[in-house]
Amino acid sequence: MKSASPPLMRRKLTPLENYFSVRLKKDLIRGLGKHSHHRAAVKMLPTFVRATPDGTEKGDYLALDLGGTNFRVLYVRVVEEQQKVVKMDSKICSIPQEMMLGTGEQLFDHIAQCLGEFLESQDLKGQTLPLGFTFSFPCEQKEIDKSILIRWTKGFSCSGVEGQDVVKLLKEAIHRRGDYDIGSVAMVNDTVGTMMSCGYRDQSCEIGMIIGTGTNACYMEEIKNVKRVEGEDGRMCINTEWGGFGDDGSLKDILTEFDEVVDQTSINPGVHTFEKMISGMYLGEIVRLLLVKMAEDKLLFKGETSEALLTPGQFETKYISEIEDGLENAQKILTALGLNWDPVDACVVRLVCDTISSRSARLCAAALATISNRIRVNRGLDHLKTTVGVDGTVYRKHPNFSEELQAAVRLLAPKCDITFLVSEDGSGKGAAMVTAVAQRIWLPGCMLSFIFLPIFVYI
Ligand code: GLC
Repeated sequence: MKSASPPLMRRKLTPLENYFSVRLKKDLIRGLGKHSHHRAAVKMLPTFVRATPDGTEKGDYLALDLGGTNFRVLYVRVVEEQQKVVKMDSKICSIPQEMMLGTGEQLFDHIAQCLGEFLESQDLKGQTLPLGFTFSFPCEQKEIDKSILIRWTKGFSCSGVEGQDVVKLLKEAIHRRGDYDIGSVAMVNDTVGTMMSCGYRDQSCEIGMIIGTGTNACYMEEIKNVKRVEGEDGRMCINTEWGGFGDDGSLKDILTEFDEVVDQTSINPGVHTFEKMISGMYLGEIVRLLLVKMAEDKLLFKGETSEALLTPGQFETKYISEIEDGLENAQKILTALGLNWDPVDACVVRLVCDTISSRSARLCAAALATISNRIRVNRGLDHLKTTVGVDGTVYRKHPNFSEELQAAVRLLAPKCDITFLVSEDGSGKGAAMVTAVAQRIWLPGCMLSFIFLPIFVYI
């Protein structure tokens, strides 16, 4: 049985979260601006997705999912009668660290190989199923199948991809092989996929949020506010890329020395400041740095460290969840890290984990409350009832992260009644859902142009 961490459950919300909301609100507007978006830290990228599911979509699709250390290929069926996206089969290919830092050509050749093997195993070579590509990095979407990578995040740094069209790179890799081909491609961010796949189950789902290796959210914004896109009526899904919040120095006064070290030792210093305070790729390292400092200050482990504790990356983010789940786990992990601990040390380490995960949950809550409040005010409503589709290992696996986040959102957005729906494999199935919605609302032949209508984009 998972236990909530008592010290944090008692804590009152600090003004920190309010501070964030005010700052983020300004940044959202800057990112949406026609002339200000170029220098905006929060990119607010138009996705050209203009409709959420209505439950009548159906059909078979292929989906690709790249966003973390694994790449996945899925064969999915959207079943109208059950309002469900069913995974028929899938294949996972790991992306080795060297490949994440190698050339774009190597990365896309690897993806093409994984896809080829999957099609072969499913006897799908030669078929032209619509393909959704969930590519979870900040991209400037030009058309449904033209998406320019702005910059890598989350430990990727492959050369020759930034500034390039990702679909083109995928197609070139497939042509280099020459043993199969693909049909139409729809590109989506994982937040959009999550919102769309949850939207099939709950049609009031208008926000998608990821708290995993990285963190980000998308939401349905009024088109008249998206100044880079022409048009006055209707809504469009905006990929906020909120991980970049603070990249212009706006969060400097609340970054700790540990956040600064994490940033400086990352492969992309100065980039995705907010994400580095929150997401799974960084939380373990923040805790490790804190424990080292406390040991050096003789507050832990009788002033001693261990080789493992001194090695970057050795304190994994999953340990935070395990330690907060029970003191016994804490003791096992500290032993495995070669530390000479006593029972008080174990309790203190648990408290440190609790503090860092709690800060992450509250910062996310502040960002989500800002977006929900914005949707409510946009629509001139006194009270907003909406649903957030959520995914990501930190949100799913941590014993009390979701509870704490939801409690903080209730405090910060009291006029918003928010339902949280954990997405079942949203980033995998969501791209298929985007393609399916397009098929529902437009004639075959020009099917994808409606929801992805690139009327006119000011770049
Ligand atoms: C990073 C990416 C963003 C993605 C998020 C969650 O922040 O830049 O596109 O949505 O991670 O995977």
